[in-house]
Amino acid sequence: MDFGIEGKVALVTAATRGIGLAIAQALAAEGARVAVVARTKQDVEKVAESLQGLGVTADVTTVDGCKRSVEETQDQLGPVEILVNNYGARAGTSWEDTGPAELEAAFAGNVIVSARMTQLVLPGMVERGWGRVVVITSVYGREAGGAPAYNAAKAAEISLVKSLARVVAAKGVTVNGVAPGSILWEGGGWHRRRQADPDGIADFVRQEMPLGRFGTVEEVANVVAFICSRQASLVTGASIAVDGGQGRSNI
Ligand SMILES: NC(=O)c1ccc[n+]([C@@H]2O[C@H](COP(=O)([O-])OP(=O)(O)OC[C@H]3O[C@@H](n4cnc5c(N)ncnc54)[C@H](OP(=O)(O)O)[C@@H]3O)[C@@H](O)[C@H]2O)c1
Repeated sequence: MDFGIEGKVALVTAATRGIGLAIAQALAAEGARVAVVARTKQDVEKVAESLQGLGVTADVTTVDGCKRSVEETQDQLGPVEILVNNYGARAGTSWEDTGPAELEAAFAGNVIVSARMTQLVLPGMVERGWGRVVVITSVYGREAGGAPAYNAAKAAEISLVKSLARVVAAKGVTVNGVAPGSILWEGGGWHRRRQADPDGIADFVRQEMPLGRFGTVEEVANVVAFICSRQASLVTGASIAVDGGQGRSNI
């Protein structure tokens, strides 16, 4: 299937490792011109070169970092037509270590960053009559589980997606949430947890993962690439689980 996004300008946040890198690679493989954003200059340059795209070294938790990401992409590649809000932040682990500070950090690092980035590109998408916005949420956003502050912030992102999608639907712009289950990649959070507690994580996989294994970054990225395609024009306001059945939500 030709996704029809050849030459489209795509911006992916937090895209030098893990899920974000795989999404940037999947979009580039479809012919999109991809800008990747992260804080470490060396990594950003390496990934941008490998994708023949653009690298923006910026901290997306800052107002300036978000603005610069969008402006540099627009100056170098053209207006952003596809935005993947992949950046997410964790704060606290349980209600024992979660208070206002952790809740604020989780909302700032998920909801606020995704909303700010989206609001920077949405008017242009609406004006041009085409656009794709994807927010990477989590199985722990579609249902209870995980760290409470992260859970609440990812649930809020799913709500944000739905309300924004309805506003811009008639303008050719889709807004969707993709909710990964537990995804293992070398150097990532689950990799570190498995190294620290191999038996505990083996139990977790047996109990929580119906496939008997973690998900891979490519399995998430392939779904995101489809959501960004021309063919996915009827998919908007959705919260799409990519979790191998890990989630227990009926919707
Ligand atoms: N992994 C999972 O199992 C899982 C499951 C469900 C949902 N998710 C969600 O999926 C998304 C990606 O998670 P992930 O585990 O693949 O990767 P991650 O470890 O959350 O992110 C790594 C990437 O983020 C960049 N980054 C970190 N802080 C940044 C900042 N302030 N500004 C810009 N870039 C920044 C890193 O580069 P620098 O350090 O150089 O900045 C790197 O490219 C998140 O929204 C996460 O909540 C993950």
